[in-house]
Amino acid sequence: MALAGKNIVIAVCGSIAAYKIATLIRLLVKADAQVRVIMSEEATAFITPLTLSTLSKNPVLVNYYQPDTGEWNNHVEIALQADYIVIAPATANTLAKMANGLCDNLLMAVYLSAKCPVFFAPAMDLDMWKHPATQHNIERLRSYGNIIIPPGNGPLASGLIGEGRLAEPEEIVAFLENYSEDSLPLLGKKALVTAGPTYEAIDPVRFIGNHSSGKMGYAIARQLKQLGADVTLISGPSSLSIPEGIHLISVTSAAQMLQACEDHFAAASIVIMSAAVADYTPIEVATQKIKKKEDQFSIPLKKTTDILATLGARKKDGQIIVGFALETNDELDHAKDKLARKNLDLIVLNSMRDKGAGFATDTNKVTVISRNGEIKEFSLKSKEEVAKDICQLILTHPLING
Ligand code: CTP
Repeated sequence: MALAGKNIVIAVCGSIAAYKIATLIRLLVKADAQVRVIMSEEATAFITPLTLSTLSKNPVLVNYYQPDTGEWNNHVEIALQADYIVIAPATANTLAKMANGLCDNLLMAVYLSAKCPVFFAPAMDLDMWKHPATQHNIERLRSYGNIIIPPGNGPLASGLIGEGRLAEPEEIVAFLENYSEDSLPLLGKKALVTAGPTYEAIDPVRFIGNHSSGKMGYAIARQLKQLGADVTLISGPSSLSIPEGIHLISVTSAAQMLQACEDHFAAASIVIMSAAVADYTPIEVATQKIKKKEDQFSIPLKKTTDILATLGARKKDGQIIVGFALETNDELDHAKDKLARKNLDLIVLNSMRDKGAGFATDTNKVTVISRNGEIKEFSLKSKEEVAKDICQLILTHPLING
């Protein structure tokens, strides 16, 4: 059994759906998992700690300290001992606190101390669920690497019908079983991902750069990690936070990115190059700040090494290489040309003509072209969802799945 022996912390929030947690705990205990329950103060109004402690065979913790003995409940220890933390039902309020790092109860302190995979199963009324603030919080949680167990569609406690029902206990257990490391499809595989822009120095204070945020590459790195891969992310300058459990190598210039890629390429079976690498770099970098003199000024540039083409030329059996192409015109032709020229297996095409696609947005719209000429067009979605689509294509690719 995939969950046998796993330490699972169930964090219960104040929602009418909390009654389903009794069944969830029974199922997990039956699967031989060790279950510890923590609750928010509000959750105790919906289901008693006594019920959940009896079912989980462990004391239930609500506060930072035990009111009777004054003993401190060590949130760090609870979090570090957990193999999985499951926040269920996750209310709109707790999701908002998680997205913003608030820490006003034991449950939030455990969440913030977690190093293991954190799952959250939302439960709320359909309009609360659809509200942009809630959806924005969920996107943020995804970007932190937290995993959503999606809510179901159906009758809600309010009497309305729609999305927002807590996933059924059986579904939550199945979700956790499928996630279990033993069944992760990319377990044992190494992945190399590039992300962000490169900065090419002109003088000590200036550079040539671009608007890439790194969001697409970071989302791909997180997704590959969730599928079990051992991920190295080589990133140009980016303000994004370091994804949990990923080996991050920070670089500045195209030359540094090339070196880092060459160091890690041979070991990787999945290579995804989403970085917006500068095509040209100044021939010389001024050692001192260039002073303003002439009305017109030009900087002699030389081509950078094409990292993707360099790696493509060295590709060995068992390696899959995915490139990106950002185009403004004749998109498909340019992308197909790049795929062939750089010896790629897949190319992800963004068109600057599509609204919401490309740099510095939270969304993207891509078309993926494979070496055998297959073309898959996707709709506009969040970069997290696009990363999922790309990873699914990799998972089903004969080089990985053959
Ligand atoms: N790329 C790279 N090294 C470079 C330039 C680009 O590895 N020096 C990679 C990017 O990470 C991306 C792909 O090549 O995966 C496509 O980059 P793009 O700039 O669109 O392609 P180019 O071949 O440079 O073509 P052009 O700029 O003429 O469109």
